Amino acid sequence: RDVEVGIVGAGPAGLMLSYLLHLQGVEAVVLEKHSRHHVEQRVRAGVCGQPTVDLLRDIGLGARLELEGLPHHGFSLRFDRRDHRVPLTELTGKRITVYGQQEIAKDLIRAHAEKNLPIEFEVSDVALHDLDTERPCVTYVDATGNAVRLRCAAVAGCDGFDGVSRHSLPSGVLTVYEHEFPYAWLGVLAHTPPSHGELIYAAHERGFALHSMRSPELTRLYLQIDLGDRLEHWPDERVWEELQRRLDTVDGFRLREGPLLDKSITSMFCFVAEPMCHGRLFLAGDAAHIVPPTGPKGMNLAVADVRRLAYALHRLLRRCDPEPARTYSESCLRRVWCAQQFSCQMTAMLHRDPDADDFARRLALAQLRHTVSSRPAAASFAEDYVGLPFE
Ligand code: FAD
Ligand code: DHB
Repeated sequence: RDVEVGIVGAGPAGLMLSYLLHLQGVEAVVLEKHSRHHVEQRVRAGVCGQPTVDLLRDIGLGARLELEGLPHHGFSLRFDRRDHRVPLTELTGKRITVYGQQEIAKDLIRAHAEKNLPIEFEVSDVALHDLDTERPCVTYVDATGNAVRLRCAAVAGCDGFDGVSRHSLPSGVLTVYEHEFPYAWLGVLAHTPPSHGELIYAAHERGFALHSMRSPELTRLYLQIDLGDRLEHWPDERVWEELQRRLDTVDGFRLREGPLLDKSITSMFCFVAEPMCHGRLFLAGDAAHIVPPTGPKGMNLAVADVRRLAYALHRLLRRCDPEPARTYSESCLRRVWCAQQFSCQMTAMLHRDPDADDFARRLALAQLRHTVSSRPAAASFAEDYVGLPFE
C-alpha cells in the first residue's frame, strides 16, 4: 500500500497532524497500538493554552471545547498558607481552558470518522525502514493479524516517549539532553466538584500539591511523592489526608472529598532529542521531548510541533520546497527549550527538593514571593504559562 505520510501514534500529536494534513490535501494513515476506547479514556493533560484552543477553533473542531471547556482567567500560587492570584487575562489578555486531552482526542477521532480518514487502532510490531531514502516504509501487523507494508514519502513519529520511532534512527544521529527531578507526582481524579473556581499550585513544606479539575463534577488533584514510591502506599484516605494538609490555608480551606476514579504515578523528568528529524522521519511531541508537567506545556508543545510539521510536509510533498522541512527541527526546538526552561523553573519553585539545603529552599520561596509581588515578574510568568503564540 502507498500513502504520502505514515503517522505512528494517535495521541494529540498524531491525530492533529493527520487532520491538518487532510485539510491541506495530503493523505496520511495513523497507526496506533492501543484501542480507540483506550485512547479516548486515558487521563492525561487538562490545560490547553490559548494557541491550542485557537487552532482547534480555526480548523472547525472547537465547538465542544467552546461549550464544555472551562475558561480560566487566573490561578493561585498558594504558599505561606495563603493564596496569591496570578491574573492571567489581566496580565496577558489571554486565558487557559480546562479541557481534557482525551476530549480533544475524541473530537479528532470523530472528525476522522466523519471524513473517512484512516486511523488503524490495535496495530502491533510497527517498524520503520529506509528512513534515509525518499521512499521510507512502515511495516506492522494490523488488528486482524495481517502483516502490512506501507510505502510512504515521509514518516511522522508521534508515538510518545516510549514509542519506536526515535529508536529507529541510526545511533549517533541524536543528541539527548536529560534531567530528572528527585520526586514524582501522584495524580488522582475525584468524583467531587472542584473546591475552588481556579487551579491552585501549592508549595508546602511537606511537598507540592495541585488542585485542578475536569468539569463541574470532577476534580483532578496531584501530590508530590518520593521517587520510587508506589501506588499501594497511597490508599484513598492517605491521599485525601495529605492533600488536605498541603492545601490548608490560614482561613481554613477544605477540599471537598469524594470517590477516586483514577490514580496514577508520573515521573518528573526532562528530555530533549536533537535534531527532531533525520532523512524522511520527523519526530513530534513526546517522542522528541518531555517537559515536567508543572507548567502544563507537553500537549501544547505537541500541537505546536505538528502545526509546523503539517506545513513543512505540504511544502515538501506538494510544492517541492524542502526548506520548511529542513528548518522544522530548529524552529520547534526554540519553543521546546523555552517551555523546558519555564517548566523546570516552575517545578523547582514549587516542589520540596529532598536534596536541597535550607538556603536553596529560601531561594525558592523568594522567587515565589517575587513572582506574585512584582507586576513585571508576574506578567512574564503569566505570558510563559498561557503559551507563546504559534509563529
Ligand atoms: P502521546 O499522548 O503519548 O501519544 C502517543 C501515542 O502513540 C499513544 O497513543 C501510544 O499508544 C502510541 N504509541 C506508542 N508506541 C507505539 C507504537 N510502537 N506503535 C503504535 N503506536 C504507538 N500537557 C499539557 O499541555 N497540559 C497539561 O495540563 C498536561 N498535564 C499533564 C499531566 C500529566 C500527569 C502528564 C503525565 C502529562 C501532562 N501533559 C500536559 C503532557 C501531555 O499529556 C503530553 O505531552 C501529550 O500527551 C503528548 O502528546 P503526544 O501525542 O506527543 O504523545
Ligand atoms: C493539570 C496538569 C498540569 O500539569 C498542570 O500544570 C495543571 C493542570 C491537570 O491535569 O488538570
